[in-house]
Amino acid sequence: MEIFHISAECYPVAKVGGLADVVGALPKYQNNAGHHVRVIMPCYDTKFRQENEFECVHWGHLKLGNFSFPFNILKEKSDKLEFELYLVEIPELFDRKEVYGYEDDIERFLSFQIAALDLIISRNEIPDVINCHDHHTGLIPFIMLYCDKYQKLRNTPSMITIHNGLYQGQFGFDKLYYLPEFDLAHVKVLEWDNCINSLAVAIKCAWAVTTVSPNYLNEINYSANGLESLFNLVRHKSKGILNGIDEEVWDPATDGMLEKNYSIKNFEKGKQENKEKLCNLFNLDPSKPLFSFIGRLLEEKGGDLLPHAAALALSENFQQINILILGSGNAVIENQLNSLLSDYKGNFNTFIGYNEELAHLIYAGSDFLLMPSRVEPCGLNQMYSLRYGTIPIVRRTGGLKDTVIDFGDDGNGICHDQASVGDICYSIQRAVDLFQDKKSLNKIREIGMKTDHSWGRVCQEYVEIYNLIISKK
Ligand code: GLC
Repeated sequence: MEIFHISAECYPVAKVGGLADVVGALPKYQNNAGHHVRVIMPCYDTKFRQENEFECVHWGHLKLGNFSFPFNILKEKSDKLEFELYLVEIPELFDRKEVYGYEDDIERFLSFQIAALDLIISRNEIPDVINCHDHHTGLIPFIMLYCDKYQKLRNTPSMITIHNGLYQGQFGFDKLYYLPEFDLAHVKVLEWDNCINSLAVAIKCAWAVTTVSPNYLNEINYSANGLESLFNLVRHKSKGILNGIDEEVWDPATDGMLEKNYSIKNFEKGKQENKEKLCNLFNLDPSKPLFSFIGRLLEEKGGDLLPHAAALALSENFQQINILILGSGNAVIENQLNSLLSDYKGNFNTFIGYNEELAHLIYAGSDFLLMPSRVEPCGLNQMYSLRYGTIPIVRRTGGLKDTVIDFGDDGNGICHDQASVGDICYSIQRAVDLFQDKKSLNKIREIGMKTDHSWGRVCQEYVEIYNLIISKK
């Protein structure tokens, strides 16, 4: 099967969050399962772009209303990612360090979508399926169906995979003229809540809608930032597919970013050596339980609860626990966390920013991983931590509910229900008690390390949906 994935992120080319990990892994596993898989993403000014060789396979001009942008499509020469990677180079819009956060993001991602489709229609073969990811690619299913220039793709199935429904890519109808020409009889399809809403458009027009976990699909029927009723309407073409993890990248036995490799046979010793290295780096005490957080410091991830929960847990367990936070995001949260540094020196530390190598060491060297998310469509960190023998402490929401079961129910982690400081601290207290009981602790770690979250199994579920929509052609 010929599959195109179109996405704003893909690891290791450019990563902001879990979207990149998924789009870096799923295509690889699909390719290795015998499909012909290509990924198209924007060409940002990243290390990967600078350090690898590309050839220009297509070029043109795209029109965005009255603006015209020259673009090139660059293909990575070696196929080292185990799928074909195409970068859309639009220097004026994407030759920047960051992936998102610019005033012209609407123009940037709309241009990207147009150029990606230009590449696809320039080829002789028509793909079997086009898998879009999140709102940055949400107008593609509409353009394929209704814009004259792309009518070659009218009968090609498209699918939207929703990694995060909170972000929807809305913009005003004053920018309607940016879209390639289409019959205005269809203009209503673009509308949701008086705006053009890219995610809503994708949900309406794509042949199938997937979310990144089954439980998230249930949740968005009553909590989806205004799209609830739309999700209800498209239930018949929706499915929740739990993400996998790339078990080649995330394997404590071979991970080159660790101080010491280990497997289920020697994890106690292996984890301790990584913990010592980590504690050394952050001036923490390796004999005490280490609780870590890795991720974006946003309300959505429960980031606003962290400073208060950390302060309370540290004062309740004075000098008995360590807490380490790796992440960046909301400046207020960052400052609140940093303000705890002097009071809890030796038991608390932060790394404000993102560092992939450090993240790996933290998964290996921590005892517990905190994920107090308010919203978590899937969550990959709990899966990484399980694989590294680190016990996740999660709020039961989205994909966290699908993947982490409380140890009181013979599960692999510690769970609570409320996004509150009280619930987090209660879970930390249970973890502190568990830490004293090494036999139970190790049993739970083993259960986690044995859990199968490989893409190998999951990627077949994607192919089944592709087959289903292809059969409707
Ligand atoms: C987004 C979601 C996260 C999910 C990831 C990959 O970052 O917030 O829950 O795991 O996408 O699908």
